[in-house]
Amino acid sequence: MARYLSIAAALAATGAFAITPEQMLSAPRRSTATPNSSGEIALFSVSEYSFENQTRSAAWQLLNLQTGEITDSGLSASDVKEAVWLPGTDTGIIYINGTNEETPGGVTIWIGDIRSPSESKLVASLGAPFSGLRVANTSSGDLHFLVNSLAYPNGTAYPNGTAYPNGTAYNPESVPEPRYSGRLYENIYPRHWDHWLTKERYAVFGGALLANSSYGLANTALRNLLQGIEFNVTRPESPVQPFGGSTDYDISPDGNVFAFLNKATHLNKAEFTASYIYLGPFDGSEIAAPFNGPDSEASAGGHKGASGSPTFSPDGFKLAYTQLDGDYYESDRSKLYVVDISTDSGKVGVSSWKPLAPEWDRSVGSIHWAPDSESIFVSAEDYAITRAFNIPVSAEETFVPERLTNVTSVSDFSVLPDSSLLVSASSVWTSRDFYVLKADGTQNVLFSSLDLDEALAGLGSHTYEEFFYTGSLGSELHSLVVKPSNFVKNKTYPLAYIIHGGPQGSNGNVWSTGWNFQVWADQGYIVVAPNPTGSTGFGQYLTDAIQGNWGSYPYEDIVLGWEYVKENLSYVDTENGIVAGASYGGYMTNWIQGHDLGDEFKAIVTHDGISNTLGAYSSEELWFLRHDFNGTIYDEGATYEKFNPINHIANWSTPQFVVHNSLDYRLPESNGLALFNILQSKGIPSRFLNFPDESHGVLNVENLLFWHTEIFNWINHYSGVGGKLDNVPIGE
Ligand SMILES: *[C@@H]1O[C@H](CO)[C@@H](O)[C@H](O)[C@H]1NC(C)=O
Ligand SMILES: *[C@@H]1O[C@H](CO)[C@@H](O)[C@H](O)[C@H]1NC(C)=O
Ligand SMILES: *[C@@H]1O[C@H](CO)[C@@H](O)[C@H](O)[C@H]1NC(C)=O
Ligand SMILES: *[C@@H]1O[C@H](CO)[C@@H](O)[C@H](O)[C@H]1NC(C)=O
Ligand SMILES: *[C@@H]1O[C@H](CO)[C@@H](O)[C@H](O)[C@H]1NC(C)=O
Ligand SMILES: *[C@@H]1O[C@H](CO)[C@@H](O)[C@H](O)[C@H]1NC(C)=O
Ligand SMILES: *[C@@H]1O[C@H](CO)[C@@H](O)[C@H](O)[C@H]1NC(C)=O
Ligand SMILES: *[C@@H]1O[C@H](CO)[C@@H](O)[C@H](O)[C@H]1NC(C)=O
Ligand SMILES: *[C@@H]1O[C@H](CO)[C@@H](O)[C@H](O)[C@H]1NC(C)=O
Ligand SMILES: *[C@@H]1O[C@H](CO)[C@@H](O)[C@H](O)[C@H]1NC(C)=O
Ligand SMILES: *[C@@H]1O[C@H](CO)[C@@H](O)[C@H](O)[C@H]1NC(C)=O
Ligand SMILES: *[C@@H]1O[C@H](CO)[C@@H](O)[C@H](O)[C@H]1NC(C)=O
Repeated sequence: MARYLSIAAALAATGAFAITPEQMLSAPRRSTATPNSSGEIALFSVSEYSFENQTRSAAWQLLNLQTGEITDSGLSASDVKEAVWLPGTDTGIIYINGTNEETPGGVTIWIGDIRSPSESKLVASLGAPFSGLRVANTSSGDLHFLVNSLAYPNGTAYPNGTAYPNGTAYNPESVPEPRYSGRLYENIYPRHWDHWLTKERYAVFGGALLANSSYGLANTALRNLLQGIEFNVTRPESPVQPFGGSTDYDISPDGNVFAFLNKATHLNKAEFTASYIYLGPFDGSEIAAPFNGPDSEASAGGHKGASGSPTFSPDGFKLAYTQLDGDYYESDRSKLYVVDISTDSGKVGVSSWKPLAPEWDRSVGSIHWAPDSESIFVSAEDYAITRAFNIPVSAEETFVPERLTNVTSVSDFSVLPDSSLLVSASSVWTSRDFYVLKADGTQNVLFSSLDLDEALAGLGSHTYEEFFYTGSLGSELHSLVVKPSNFVKNKTYPLAYIIHGGPQGSNGNVWSTGWNFQVWADQGYIVVAPNPTGSTGFGQYLTDAIQGNWGSYPYEDIVLGWEYVKENLSYVDTENGIVAGASYGGYMTNWIQGHDLGDEFKAIVTHDGISNTLGAYSSEELWFLRHDFNGTIYDEGATYEKFNPINHIANWSTPQFVVHNSLDYRLPESNGLALFNILQSKGIPSRFLNFPDESHGVLNVENLLFWHTEIFNWINHYSGVGGKLDNVPIGE
């Protein structure tokens, strides 16, 4: 591999254009696009924010897959929360309307035609905020659908003693005010990500819309498909929280079988990641059961970790899914599996369990079957971009699929009837590209946000580069470089060194509204974003090598990367650089503060990062620390101590900006407060930014603008690019 490679002709941009945080945050955001069954049109949503009016506007739009023409669909985005094509029809749609006039807090299901959406008809009134619609058309013409919602546990009753039917969907708007606010726990996991756990758990529900009665709902209550599953430690829940959604379950094309993901019921869910795929008949004649759980062939083969993306083949005979090996690791290689489904004599069963290309050293993300059910298209992270690959069902163990896409990152894709792919992509320079990738490799670019969005005008791949350097473990490490839009060759720009989170994650060539490298670069920096030990997408060895080594190999890699930049990139001013990171990246900035590299920066930005590894045990997903620190805090205390940033306070001296949010239950704000308190009492210039309504990241656009403004003021002041610190923080 060349030591230095530039993927785009290094054009110096001509204009003085630069993208500001405000432009980036107000620019349109587009969802991925879903094609109709013939692959002629695709539906997607777009929304944009006006800082002037403090309003967000949204629309559902149609993309013509031959011409790239975009038109408004006529579907109201304020009403329609999600929409899918109605299987078996040309232009039919079925959608969830967020308003239910009968039951406040509920939703409604409507069926219509995309050519005349205003004539859609309400077919079902659901008494809770269901989402995640998946639909199958059965041979009788009835539609079978799946949705999910929080559900009451068995035996729940109103305070007056009136019982709810067991397992019914939970509608927060119909719940009477409780008499007290205390929350009592005796199981691990009082809270998760950004919320305290209550008694309710998510469940997948099934319902039928009958063809013979204008698609009226068969029974008024939907069936909770998790009911009846036995457990002795962890109550069944699907989708798996906090990020699970409709890709955690699927319905067979004939509507007769469902599959969903559920965490291991015999393991506690804070210390284990294991989850299995459950299957059951839609008619409810059997209770859903897992096929890759403890007594399965998969388990016997050592595959015991988190499962994902159960996906039926178009012919309905197979199911593909992913699974990790380790039962308390979340960043193991995600491998692809396929099983045959049988429904002989009404009983749902599986056979011919088979790993596909298990030696391929990449982690499988999304799964999309080819129309002939003979191969599976998957996405996987590979050298800092997510690419599409194709794996035949007949693949041998040693099969290595070819890269089908490059340059930009695949956000998601759909397979068209002729096996070409409709790809929704992004990169450092475009928030959304739509293109069709033909089987012969040719690409038909239909749309690029660069061409349409004023805020993005002038961006391009000319600011993007990457380099490779030798890391602490002897392997070649990858790093991104993003230059300012108005970069000129004979100038130097201070370094903005950005460390990614995870640590099992990556700095990738993607568009982001949180850490948008072009926006940082356009403040007047060269962004260098390395992928040190722990990073994903470069092979499992690099990812796994971080275990028990949070402050060693990655730190050394980050030092080596910084030295590489100093020696090789003449346009980077390393004398006036800054370093920034969130989550693990925040931990690393705290580690850098206490080590020699900290002296090389003018300022540090730490977002929701560990300052005290012992305090980090107030986290929630305890498997994470247990894995990464090589054991629990009581068995492996020495590893926690060895890599504890707070043990190096004596060396702290660099001005530091600390962000820590109140709803961050992954790493409670006490970690950021301790850091800030120490900086302040040591007299080190520092600021503390807290969002009471944000979790581990920042989502609200107005909050994001404040986040950018204050961080940029800080770094621009210390790096000398011109920030002002004349705003008035909340004082003494
Ligand atoms: C803000 O609202 C005003 C008045 O309705 C409108 O004219 C203007 O176009 C809006 N601005 C944006 C950016 O949406
Ligand atoms: C469902 O499929 C049946 C049989 O293939 C077909 O006749 C019917 O039109 C389809 N209905 C819908 C709403 O897709
Ligand atoms: C897909 O959409 C196009 C454009 O509305 C329509 O003409 C076509 O019939 C649809 N095809 C199918 C099979 O859904
Ligand atoms: C959504 O539901 C509301 C209340 O029933 C109705 O007024 C509105 O027209 C519906 N919108 C759509 C797009 O179905
Ligand atoms: C509901 O659950 C409770 C508690 O598990 C149980 O006692 C009751 O029998 C269940 N009700 C029905 C209708 O099964
Ligand atoms: C108990 O409370 C619920 C919710 O307020 C109400 O719907 C129900 O009618 C009440 N039952 C009785 C017997 O009062
Ligand atoms: C409609 O079909 C369902 C089964 O799919 C059946 O139970 C019901 O009796 C039918 N109703 C009418 C009005 O034909
Ligand atoms: C909850 O109640 C349903 C019936 O209402 C039953 O099928 C199920 O087994 C019960 N689950 C537990 C865990 O008691
Ligand atoms: C739960 O059940 C499993 C078997 O499915 C058993 O191995 C385990 O010991 C049980 N755990 C508890 C806490 O009862
Ligand atoms: C990579 O992208 C270039 C265009 O930038 C294209 O010519 C080439 O065919 C692509 N290669 C693959 C494997 O997609
Ligand atoms: C950089 O080059 C431009 C023209 O290429 C010239 O106008 C400018 O003076 C140069 N600046 C420096 C600092 O040399
Ligand atoms: C500790 O880390 C080493 C090296 O990564 C690994 O081989 C070992 O299995 C780990 N031990 C535990 C208890 O996780």
